Amino acid sequence: MDSMRAAFITFLHVAILSSLACAKGNNRTSPRPPAIVVFGDSIVDPGNNNAILTTVKCNFPPYGKDFVHQQATGRFSNGKIPSDLMASVLGIKEYVPAYLGTKLSAQELITGVSFASGGCGFDPLTADLVSAISMEDQLNLFKEYKEKVKAIVGEEKAAEITNNAVYLVATGTDDLANTYFTTPFRRLEFDLPSYINFTVKSASSFVQKLYHLGARKISVVSAPPIGCLPSQRTLAGGIERICNPTYNQAAVAFNSRLSNEMQKLNNTLPRARILYVDLYTPLLDIILHPLKYGFVESKRGCCGSGTFEVTLTCNSLTTLVCEDASKYVFWDSYHPTERAYRILISNVVQRYGAFIN
Ligand SMILES: *[C@@H]1O[C@H](CO)[C@@H](O)[C@H](O)[C@H]1NC(C)=O
Ligand SMILES: *[C@@H]1O[C@H](CO)[C@@H](O)[C@H](O)[C@H]1NC(C)=O
Ligand SMILES: *[C@@H]1O[C@H](CO)[C@@H](O)[C@H](O)[C@H]1NC(C)=O
Repeated sequence: MDSMRAAFITFLHVAILSSLACAKGNNRTSPRPPAIVVFGDSIVDPGNNNAILTTVKCNFPPYGKDFVHQQATGRFSNGKIPSDLMASVLGIKEYVPAYLGTKLSAQELITGVSFASGGCGFDPLTADLVSAISMEDQLNLFKEYKEKVKAIVGEEKAAEITNNAVYLVATGTDDLANTYFTTPFRRLEFDLPSYINFTVKSASSFVQKLYHLGARKISVVSAPPIGCLPSQRTLAGGIERICNPTYNQAAVAFNSRLSNEMQKLNNTLPRARILYVDLYTPLLDIILHPLKYGFVESKRGCCGSGTFEVTLTCNSLTTLVCEDASKYVFWDSYHPTERAYRILISNVVQRYGAFIN
């Protein structure tokens, strides 16, 4: 019964996604965006961290267990990640490649890449703590990327691509979960409300710089319910591993400030279409009501015990892996499974579809 229900729900989401992809591909009111360009952390890093010296890596099994050829590409999940799913829904391509680490074809470059790096945040200290690529450095890579696109298609067409591309910005989780709550550095300096203001200011400055480099359609995603991530339940949820309410409230406060700031930028920057995308609400609903979505487990990840394993500790030498990751909301103790991401993206398309393309 449950598995039939799960299969049906999966079918429903696939059907919604593919009909949207189809509608967008064939009968669009606005032209298909030429490219998708992605900035952020492990939620949207397709393997940039493979190319740098950091411990935040996952280019080994069981990561990629359900990816094409079971390939561990450096995506922090069992399969596709949100940037891939967005690119697909927008009719651009099936996968958004990492900018670093491999030689990309001209076609791959002009249809968009990801600069995201697992472990980074809007707070520059967050990337520093784990030697990830900071958001500022991701912008520097974007400048270099723009030159490459210009060399391929010429100045005029390159500017057109830059102006009409869809930009996805997804980070902030690690600022709160790692930098603020888990290490002492920022807590010595800021109380929580001041840290949230500091981080949102940094997010705003990032978006403004991106705008001044030619981006117009920028989607900025919210923080998730941080207190309900399996690792945070283990660290801060007590013996029962409950969702930590303080962490969730911090995410809500951060999101509220971020949303206001993005709305303000949308109103002030000429021709900008800056969109705050709420992932908190749909993800919390999935976590609290997993059965409704055909999941059987939302408190632990599929990898290992599911309570602490992530990146280096989720590997095939030391950990068992659940058989069917599609029954789990979380793949490891920090990152959702492809199936959870698909449900989130279909929710995003339903709520914001008209704004994104
Ligand atoms: C798609 O576009 C065609 C031609 O512009 C139009 O006749 C048709 O009604 C459209 N279909 C939908 C589903 O909007
Ligand atoms: C945070 O920023 C808001 C809006 O600018 C302001 O009203 C509030 O006082 C600030 N809070 C702190 C703790 O700095
Ligand atoms: C952003 O501003 C544009 C007008 O420049 C408006 O059409 C759009 O609805 C705004 N987006 C949001 C999310 O408010």
